[in-house]
Amino acid sequence: MLIAAIDQGTTSTRVLVADTDAGTAEIAYSIRHRQTHPAPGLVEHDPEELLANIRACLAAAGPVDAIAIANQGESCLAWDAETGAALSPVIVWQDNRTAETLATLGDAGAALALERAGLPLDPYFSAAKLGSILTSSPEAQAAHAAGRLRLGTTDAFFLDRLAGVFATDVTTASRTSLMNLVTAQWDTDLCAMFGVPVECLPEIRTTVGGFGSYEGLPIVAAMVDQQAALYGHGCRKPGDAKITFGTGAFALAVTGGDIVRAPEMGLLPTVAWATAEGRLYAVDGGVYDAGSAIEWAGRIGLVDDLSELDAFEGEAAIDQGLVFVPALSGLACPYWDRSAASLFLGMSGATTKQDMRKALLEGVALRAAEVVAAIAKRAPIGPEISIDGGLARSRYFAQFLADSLSREVVVSDFDERTAFGAAALAALAFGIELEPPAGAKSRRFTPRAEGVEVRRARFADAVSRCRNWRG
Ligand code: G3P
Repeated sequence: MLIAAIDQGTTSTRVLVADTDAGTAEIAYSIRHRQTHPAPGLVEHDPEELLANIRACLAAAGPVDAIAIANQGESCLAWDAETGAALSPVIVWQDNRTAETLATLGDAGAALALERAGLPLDPYFSAAKLGSILTSSPEAQAAHAAGRLRLGTTDAFFLDRLAGVFATDVTTASRTSLMNLVTAQWDTDLCAMFGVPVECLPEIRTTVGGFGSYEGLPIVAAMVDQQAALYGHGCRKPGDAKITFGTGAFALAVTGGDIVRAPEMGLLPTVAWATAEGRLYAVDGGVYDAGSAIEWAGRIGLVDDLSELDAFEGEAAIDQGLVFVPALSGLACPYWDRSAASLFLGMSGATTKQDMRKALLEGVALRAAEVVAAIAKRAPIGPEISIDGGLARSRYFAQFLADSLSREVVVSDFDERTAFGAAALAALAFGIELEPPAGAKSRRFTPRAEGVEVRRARFADAVSRCRNWRG
């Protein structure tokens, strides 16, 4: 059978077609969309553009038997129940417009969110974003008064418009900060605290199951892209972990039936996936800026071409005292500090562009290592970690990451782990265990211990200096 798996991500929408009989899985089409920044810290997408791109992807996929959709996670919007018209832009996960509102919720609010949703109070999550739409948009207020308001993450909007089904899946709901992590139901106290009317939210369904049909084709799975990638990397049992280096870097480790609550480590317990057989949990730690830091470096002319980031001669930048901390959007796990600012520290008259490029990669790797170290303190993870995403193609990065993690890093030349994971979860609906394409080769990067402790300490020092910078 043929499965079309949509990966609707932060910067692009792509479709992978998996042939479960032939054992192939290939990207059929990919298209980028606009990133709108109405003011510093604000990030929006056009809901109609995302939807049109999904439709274009499905058209390009050709005739298939089933569809799966992976989504951006916390990005969310409001729309009209009767017309389906969007009543707000998509407020993207990176957007920090709700920072001040969240600060007013105080310790009691933070404790409630941690207890029920397992999440800290941070603008990253959907709850306060959805609340802010209702308080700031007259259109949303009018729709609410008329009983026509729908609020949800992007998946719920896509499913409503594509299939006429107002639903989300439990992995995506677990990223809103509105869902009780134990019951997997909307929590009325959280909804009240964030100003989100519970009746405006979609029904929560299992990841693999029914989400209606689009042009006669069943949509059989829906989930967050990071969870799709976790599955797509073959992570199934507690301790299996992956890191995806996309716009941000997201490390997830399967924790099985355990909800790992570790607020002191800044970790996020989350749902890994849910099928008819049951629900599995994972623990997540994120770095806001990975690919986005490279894109920024490209915009200012520090990097002209990604091939410049593949291999470098000589010692690491950090060993020469040059450090980059990626914090363009602040620091996520384990700090959750939006006031932190990016910094390059330690330039001298002899510093070259090449040194700064190295520092850029090293900074992302060292941030990811901080996250993995935090995870490992609470949820034992195995001796190797699979990685994917643009940065995984850099040999310098992968080796430096292995050194920083003190773990073997595995990079497969089959890189489409998110879309593949979505397809593999969809295949479960038909009792099929999808394997990555035969012939996919992996490179392994073995950790080298030399100098790692000094690097970690130097990096931690730089991180401490970049905090509490923005008001
Ligand atoms: O939490 C946000 C994350 O799921 C987005 O991932 O790959 O779209 O940048 P990506």
